Amino acid sequence: MTRGRFITLEGMDGAGKTTHLEWLRARLLARGIALTVTREPGGTALGESLRGLLLDSHEPRQPETEALLMFAARSEHIARVIEPALASGQWVLCDRFTDATYAYQAGGSGMAWSRIAELERWVQGGLQPDLTLYFDLTPEVGRSRTRQAREPDRFEREQLGFYERVRAAYLRRAEEHPDRIRIIDASQSIAEVQVELEKIILSI
Ligand SMILES: Nc1ncnc2c1ncn2[C@@H]1O[C@H](COP(=O)(O)OP(=O)(O)OP(=O)(O)O)[C@@H](O)[C@H]1O
Ligand SMILES: [Mg+2]
Repeated sequence: MTRGRFITLEGMDGAGKTTHLEWLRARLLARGIALTVTREPGGTALGESLRGLLLDSHEPRQPETEALLMFAARSEHIARVIEPALASGQWVLCDRFTDATYAYQAGGSGMAWSRIAELERWVQGGLQPDLTLYFDLTPEVGRSRTRQAREPDRFEREQLGFYERVRAAYLRRAEEHPDRIRIIDASQSIAEVQVELEKIILSI
């Protein structure tokens, strides 16, 4: 049994992750690839409960607390969903993963980068995505898109400077992992982004 591919989608709120995940799901299914589609925080009952706690609360929180909750949910998600799917030959498409913890809790909220690296090593062992699609967008464009789509959640209500730091952290991750992370210019039209995605998925 050939192990499946693990693909994550990253980018700030409104960058197009969910839109393009749906499109990728259809493209890969059309190629006859068996898929598990999931998201973080989430993916398990525990993860979905944590997602509610993390995204809906107005209460200020230490970024360390958020990171620990994220990795607690991630540990469960990996053991119960991601690893079994990959081992059975399915590909896994995941809407956000650990790069988002670096981007939001380290970049956005100022937690030490090295602490997240420790948690990453502890919880993931050697597990890393095979491919990460990072949808790069300025905070201004991202906010204008999500405002139209739905009410902002707690993270989205934070300041523009926060999102500038989130973006800078994502770009730092991409620089540190150039073989894994593909930067996609998400200010392009949906159709233009799809042309780029098509090329990328044909090459994997
Ligand atoms: N390239 C694009 N051009 C114009 N609009 C887009 C583009 N990509 C996505 N959108 C629109 O922007 C909105 C946000 O997209 P989407 O929900 O896919 O973003 P997301 O990255 O999943 O955001 P979140 O992190 O909030 O879940 C949607 O209304 C979507 O139709
Ligand atoms: Mg989304």
